[in-house]
Amino acid sequence: MIIPTLLSGGSGSRLWPLSREIHPKQFLPLLDGKSLFIETLERLSGLPDLGAPLVVCNDQHRFLAAEKLRHAGIESAGILLEPVGRNTAPAVACAALKALQIDPQAQLLVMPADHLIPDVTALHNALLAAREHSAGGALVTFGAQPEWAETGYGYIHRGAALPGSGPACYAIDRFVEKPDAETAQAYLQSGAYLWNSGMFLFRAERYLEELSQHAPLMVEQCQLALEKARLDLDFIRLDPESFEACPADSIDYAVMERTARGVVTTLDAGWSDIGSWEALWRAQQRDAQGNVTHGDVVLEDARDCLVRADEGLVTLLGVEGLVVVETADAVLVADKSRSQDVKKLVERLKRDN
Ligand code: GDD
Ligand code: MG
Repeated sequence: MIIPTLLSGGSGSRLWPLSREIHPKQFLPLLDGKSLFIETLERLSGLPDLGAPLVVCNDQHRFLAAEKLRHAGIESAGILLEPVGRNTAPAVACAALKALQIDPQAQLLVMPADHLIPDVTALHNALLAAREHSAGGALVTFGAQPEWAETGYGYIHRGAALPGSGPACYAIDRFVEKPDAETAQAYLQSGAYLWNSGMFLFRAERYLEELSQHAPLMVEQCQLALEKARLDLDFIRLDPESFEACPADSIDYAVMERTARGVVTTLDAGWSDIGSWEALWRAQQRDAQGNVTHGDVVLEDARDCLVRADEGLVTLLGVEGLVVVETADAVLVADKSRSQDVKKLVERLKRDN
């Protein structure tokens, strides 16, 4: 059985002021009324041998997650609640341990709750191709064609082509998480690298074996956190003391950079990680001047801007490449190319307030 596992721990600070710590972006109707959180699960519908999903999220977001699921009529296999964030490697470890209780042969389909994948058929084909390899013990990633020298992604160097039908699969020669700008540029030009989309498919048992080799303490603490977890409706409250003692790391650094059993399946489905305002601008239909607007917006001689007015009227005159986001209590005006740095701004706000 494949158990979809939704990672929903991020606060999406680069989409401030729309995305807030208490109401992060994956729960917002960012594009067409549905949340990315629910879209992530709904786009799997129709795949064979699919179990009920597991959700791993911050304790603070439990009611948001439960309410979204209820509203969409989705029954979960459990909502694992983290008392603190320890990044993705432990979150996936807890889900893997839980999945093994449901099915000892379970394969985990790990998915970030905040990505956009418009071509569902292409996604399904990639998943079907990936299954063959994950059933055989591989840790499968899904690689998208790089479009620019992004430094916020993992890069996968394709190795030998693997036999199978559907989208091409390759052994992973090398996985490099978040290279510096110069390296990312070289990878882009080489044509031999794919972007890591952040989705993974593997047998739960295999992931835990790998993690035990590279980060044994993490597995031990996650085991304890789940053993001592408190059950409360669909919520599985991980034991705070055990989980807090767990080292923090991402699945990319802790496992994918180190494993010898990595496979990449090519994903040509219009994938995008709408992690920043610039990415959101890229992912949407633009008008003839390259602008994306939402709400009460009037533009005169403005180009390549993303403008969002939630409360009042927003007007722009004679500007280019700006992000302007207006909400009830905060306004952001930024150079679109500095979208990644919104995170820094939010950190500063937290420090100063
Ligand atoms: N439950 C839980 N707990 N979820 C988490 C945690 C956590 O502590 N930390 C992050 N997440 C969730 C985020 O909400 C997001 O959905 C997903 O896990 C990935 O985390 P990010 O923090 O967004 O990772 P990233 O964007 O820096 O990098 C990852 O994604 C890129 C593609 O978008 C890596 O896998 C890169 O290699 C990849 O290219
Ligand atoms: Mg991300």
